Amino acid sequence: MVFKERESRNKGVVENNRLMELHLYPGNRCNRDCDFCTVFGTPKGWAMEYTAEHLDATLASVMLHEQGALKFYGGEPTLNTENTLWAIAYLREHGFAGAIVIYSNGIKADQLLQLLASDPLGKTTASLNYSIATGDGAPQMPMSSLRKLEAYEKENPGAIAIGHPDIVDSGRGIDPFTGEETRPKVNHRCPHCYPVLKTDGQFHACPFAIENNAPHFQLGSIRDRPETVTQNFTTFLNWIDTVHEPYAIAHDLPACTVCWKNLEELPPPEFG
Ligand SMILES: C[S@@+](CC[C@H](N)C(=O)[O-])C[C@H]1O[C@@H](n2cnc3c(N)ncnc32)[C@H](O)[C@@H]1O
Ligand code: SF4
Ligand code: SF4
Repeated sequence: MVFKERESRNKGVVENNRLMELHLYPGNRCNRDCDFCTVFGTPKGWAMEYTAEHLDATLASVMLHEQGALKFYGGEPTLNTENTLWAIAYLREHGFAGAIVIYSNGIKADQLLQLLASDPLGKTTASLNYSIATGDGAPQMPMSSLRKLEAYEKENPGAIAIGHPDIVDSGRGIDPFTGEETRPKVNHRCPHCYPVLKTDGQFHACPFAIENNAPHFQLGSIRDRPETVTQNFTTFLNWIDTVHEPYAIAHDLPACTVCWKNLEELPPPEFG
């Protein structure tokens, strides 16, 4: 395998009321409909473009220096390459100096490589869907796309990584998953992901549960003060440790299953 997994960075880091990482989500429209997809990706999914208003809120919420990271996902970011190219340029023009990661299934390899090449700072990289890159658990991407991406990675080591093989019980979840049985599935502990800004203007606490509208995940909107949103995120992580995880352990449930099926039994975090 040409592509390497990336080490995950520290979780829950906030500095001067700015998050170390933020995910950006423009809807679940996709050119695939994987049977495990946490966001219910589908060609019939919703899609809403990034605007200056979203990106200004992004720039007010994330660390702007080199430690900061913005992660574009979806859905499939290469389906609206024009808007994603515009968003990357806007973020750079307005002072974001951190890393940018594009989560992609890689099928539209030319568009994905165009996104990587567009960054004037050369710090935009890709992370590929494990199942679609390998064919384990989903139909593999076309060989023509795979070869282009492999060639780019060989020329630019570290530019294209491969995602983790783990499948969590969120969205379409684990039941229909047909991949390798040894891939780990049960864990009581939430991975403490960084939150998400959706293009409907809402900040949501979890990229895996993004299509779950429970009040437990609602951190605020682009109209709120950025410090309120980041403080709410810290409150959410405390709630995960003190309310959610004990429940998952007591009921012997995987962490994401609790978020998907049992939240009505848990009091929401006390957001400001
Ligand atoms: C939701 S996809 C969106 C971006 C792009 N369409 C892709 O597949 O990479 C982002 C990442 O989430 C992963 N993912 C999807 N469903 C998952 C699940 N149930 N558990 C863990 N990861 C999942 C995908 O493999 C992919 O690496
Ligand atoms: S995992 Fe990615 S490629 Fe698969 S349906 Fe979901 S968004 Fe689409
Ligand atoms: S446990 Fe809940 S908050 Fe944590 S990753 Fe899973 S769905 Fe998200």
